[in-house]
Formats: sequence, structure tokens, C-alpha cells
Amino acid sequence: MLDLLVRGVRAVGSDALVDVHVDGGTIVALEPASGAPAQARSVVDGGGSLLCPPYVEPHVHLDTVLTAGEPRWNESGTLWEGIACWSERKQSLTHDDVLERAEEVLRWYVSNGVLHVRSHVDVTDPELVALGALLELRDRVRGVVELQLVAFPQEGICSFPSGLELLEEAARRGVDVIGAIPHFEDTREDGVRSLELAVDVAQRHGLSVDAHCDEIDDEQSRFSEVLAMLALRSGLREKVTASHTTAMGSYAPAYTYKLQRLLLRSGINLVCNPLVNLHLQGRFDGYPKRRGLTQVKEMLSAGVNVAFGHDDVMDPWYPLGTADPVLVAHVGAHATQMMAPHEIAECVRMVSDRAAKVLGLGDAYGVRVGAPASFLLLPAADPLDVVRRLVRPSHVVAHGRVVVERAPVVARLEWPGSAAQDVDLVRARDAPLATWRR
Ligand code: FE2
Repeated sequence: MLDLLVRGVRAVGSDALVDVHVDGGTIVALEPASGAPAQARSVVDGGGSLLCPPYVEPHVHLDTVLTAGEPRWNESGTLWEGIACWSERKQSLTHDDVLERAEEVLRWYVSNGVLHVRSHVDVTDPELVALGALLELRDRVRGVVELQLVAFPQEGICSFPSGLELLEEAARRGVDVIGAIPHFEDTREDGVRSLELAVDVAQRHGLSVDAHCDEIDDEQSRFSEVLAMLALRSGLREKVTASHTTAMGSYAPAYTYKLQRLLLRSGINLVCNPLVNLHLQGRFDGYPKRRGLTQVKEMLSAGVNVAFGHDDVMDPWYPLGTADPVLVAHVGAHATQMMAPHEIAECVRMVSDRAAKVLGLGDAYGVRVGAPASFLLLPAADPLDVVRRLVRPSHVVAHGRVVVERAPVVARLEWPGSAAQDVDLVRARDAPLATWRR
């Protein structure tokens, strides 16, 4: 007797229906769909849905979520005013305040199909209040959603009093990743030094590195090359990530060509955050106004691993957000002009398996026999359809348990000359959906 049988689902790119056999939290078999009586304690009718690995959030700030407007709104819409607003809000942080907000947004993530989250947590706080709360939350939610914590020095390592000591203390308390913010340090030299210090702390504690890097519309901000060089020479390589990298949107082609060779050789990952940086960047520009994003298409073509992140959810840097990776992929496709069908599919990979690579999930990630039974059922024809209709999962399975069930959302329409009908934005010739819609 199996724990769970999921009947009649399809892999991306296949019309063949399969059944997923789950036992002990593991996928024990993937068999051609069968109508035989179920030998399972729990059965889900997949109805021809896509069977996909869970989404992965490579970059969010769970300590700052749901604080937009507290104590004031970011009126200029700049990164800098956001940091100033957060610095004020940080004065009133409490353990429970952080815990409640972060847990609420984690529930949103899981309901949207995200089962792995990398969250930055501000450690430029002598009391490390947010870190204490998120370490507790990481343990509490394990088994449903896996949380990685990055010690993020929001106000600098060199430029903030005791910045390095606080980073070291966070490493001792058990973060997974060491962060940095070189473009915010007082001088370029401090920026370079901050990256050297972050890599040194990570190496001594056996951790990864994920630095906010070049989040500024300054073509002279070139810390990604410094981080790539350190990744190469330290041997940390793919355990290193440069996040945001928005200055890349201002680099001239000759420099970009040189940079992409180094990024590729170093093995580091890039994370682009299209929702937030479309809004924050270009704020000092007249017209023409720059987009201020990573050169995603070019870096992918060069062979560099790039993922999309949400970054902020209703905080001083971004007043919107529902923690939905498909919206990130949708906006990312527009912002990076990745609109050919295979490019839209690539945008989905950037919130799933490419993001999993950023988190270093390895064999723990993916839908195959022997892997953890953590997957999604998506009532959609293909990845393009997922992005177009912003399809959310009908089921989310985490370690063999169905943790989310969602009923289809349709509109009932009265239309001239015909009986009332359901409208769900699906074309009649989206054949694989017909089973799901029955
Ligand atoms: Fe960020």
C-alpha cells in the first residue's frame, strides 16, 4: 500500500500520461497511467496536468517583508531611500514581529509552489534580532519548505560599525550563506575589501557567498568582476552568486564581453530581480531611461547560470508582491525581451532548476524515481501557457504530503446569443487541458 498515488500527469514536452507512486516521502515509481484499482492511502487525480519540480526562490528578504509604509513610504522610489526607511523601521524590530511577517509570506510562497527559499537577513543590527527570528523559522518550517539564510550586511561590512564582527557572529549562529553589498560601501576600495572579507568568512565557516553586487546605475560599478575573480581563486566557484548586477544594464559591449568570459570561467551564478529593479533603477535618469537589469539573455547565451528572484514583498523597496515566481518569470520575460517560446520556457527554468543551481540543491531537486516526493501539478499545456495565464499549482506535494490544493478559477460569462459559459482564457485547441477541464 503506497502513501500517495498521483494519477494521469504529464512531463513537460510529453503527451504520455504517467502515474506517480509515492512512499515514505520518496518517488518510488513513475509508471504509464493505469486505471487499475488504487493501492494507496491517498489518491490524487492529476487530470492531465503538468508534473513539475517545485519552484525555487533564489533571492528574497524575509526580514523586511510586509513593512511597506512603516514608518513612512519610499516616495522617491530609490534604493537609497528604501535603505533609509528600513534603517528607521529596524529600530522597532522584535523577534515576534519578524517571525509573523516572514511566516505569512512563506505561506504565500508555498501556496504558489515554492518549496526552496534563499532569504537574505540584515545583520547590520547589533542585536541581530531578525537573524534570531529567521533561524527559528528555518527549523520550524523544515519538512515543507527548505529555507537558506544569507547574512546580509545591508549597511556595509567596512562602512558599518562592527560590520565584520556582526557578519562573523551570524556565521557562528548558523547562517548558510555570507552576503555583502560592495556598491554601498563608502569607497570603491572598501567595496573590494568587503568582498574579500565576505569570501574569507565563508571559507573559514564552510559556507557559500551571495553578494548584492552592482545594484546601481553606474557603469563604473564593477564589483561582479571582483567577486568572480575571488570565486575562481578561492575555489568556491559555483558556491558564489552575484545578485542584482543591475549596473550590467549600463555596461558597454566591449566590457561585457570581457566580463562574461570571467563569469563563465569562475562558475558563479547571477540573480536578476526584474520586478524590483525595473522599479528602483533609472530613477536618476531623464529620457531615454535605462532598464537597469542584468544582461540576462546575453549571459545565458554565454553559458552563465542566471536565475530570477522576487527580492522584496511589500517593503520599503517594493510596495507590491504576492510571492509568485510565475509573475516574476512573466515580468522577467518582458523586461529582458525573452519572448520566443523557448525563451519563455527558459524564464520558467530561471525560477526552478536554474534557481535550484544557485541554492546548490543538487540531487535533492527534480522529479525522478528515488528523489524526494516534492513536486507541483500545473493545469497548463506547457511552460508558455503557465507564464501567459499565470497558472498556479492545483496541488503542491512536499516530501510525500499534499500541502496545497487549489480549485480551478474560472469566470462565469453571460454572452449574447449563447448560454452562460465558463471562461478561463484557455483556447479550444489547447488539447491537453481538455482532460483537466472536464
Ligand atoms: Fe536584494
